[in-house]
Amino acid sequence: MQTRTQFFTTPIYYVNAKPHLGHAYTTIAADVATRFKQMDAHDTYFLTGTDEHGDKIVQAAQKENLHPKVYVDNISRLFQDLWPRLCVQNDQFIRTTAPAHIAVVTNLLTRIHDKGDIYFSSYEGQYCFGCERFYQDRELVNGKCPDHGVAPSPIKESNYFFTMSKYQDWLIDHIKTHPDFIHPEQYKTELLSFLKEPLEDLCISRPKSRLTWGITLPFDDNYVTYVWFDALVNYISALGYPNGPLFQKFWPGARHFVAKDIIKPHGIYWPIMLKAADIDIYDGLNVHGFWNVSGSKMSKSIGNVTDPVAVTETYGVDAFRYFLMREMVFGLDANFTEDVLVSRINADLANDLACWLRLSAICWRGCAPWPA
Ligand code: MSP
Repeated sequence: MQTRTQFFTTPIYYVNAKPHLGHAYTTIAADVATRFKQMDAHDTYFLTGTDEHGDKIVQAAQKENLHPKVYVDNISRLFQDLWPRLCVQNDQFIRTTAPAHIAVVTNLLTRIHDKGDIYFSSYEGQYCFGCERFYQDRELVNGKCPDHGVAPSPIKESNYFFTMSKYQDWLIDHIKTHPDFIHPEQYKTELLSFLKEPLEDLCISRPKSRLTWGITLPFDDNYVTYVWFDALVNYISALGYPNGPLFQKFWPGARHFVAKDIIKPHGIYWPIMLKAADIDIYDGLNVHGFWNVSGSKMSKSIGNVTDPVAVTETYGVDAFRYFLMREMVFGLDANFTEDVLVSRINADLANDLACWLRLSAICWRGCAPWPA
């Protein structure tokens, strides 16, 4: 009988901040899914890592007076060290500054450029420096970036563009004909409704006059690659695309775990990039909601950014993992407070589970006497 395979991934996390509860949730959810598939007789491969190029990272490094390379090494190490502490069993940890990853991004860009799906053009648009991307008017909320709450800056630049618009009808059809492609259903509806409006081509370069911390475009060394066009490729560079044995074995059977904040790059850019490069499309995207802490979005200024290690030091790793999986309905937002965590542990683990275990021990003793 042929072994069934399944590849699980988390987003590769930006190294502009230390790991927190949100990163821990996605990674533990993907770890749990991987373990489940292993129990279900699948051969699995589980990937996580860090996303290390772009403006955000340069700014974070500057704040600490460090060269970006030194800075990314330090923060990436925190992520790499965290996962074993949370009993996460990833098979690989990928970094976008690794030469093997850079080679695959370069290869893919060349391939898509040679096909004629990348063109050069002058562009005037609304740019959010926090998100490192141009915004269409309809994506703004009261003229402001929905994530950063600031009005984007008008920018006029010559750049390289990826012909995403050409693939819009194909993508709509793919989503509709592959019921498991976007899970849960509400996010499929959200993507399809976004795709009712014309899709704009994607600006995939940044001039080196503005940013040098990135992967140089193979067809113009005055530009670096837009960070998303670099980061998404990790899912195949880690497998050794195009000829590596892991790629042959595990692609395209991939399920990507992400939160709702990055559904567009994963649900729109990534499948279109694969299609343009004639690579099979991944199996599906599992999208979850956001953890708030004490009812508010986690933020440094509020001071509620929750450190998963601190929680496990008090309550233990198993209780923390159980709580995360039990408390959040996959797809919806959830709220973290220490009180909710304690109630959940007491009600589900100390009372129900422990009581059930005691009862089964009593019953077992009742039916079968202890050996003398
Ligand atoms: N680097 C990109 C991802 C590139 S993947 C090719 C990125 N990085 S990130 O550090 O901002 O991570 C975003 C992801 O972290 C979310 O999609 C989610 O997996 C996790 N979370 C960050 N904050 C979260 C919450 N408050 N709640 C739940 N998950 C959260 O985007």
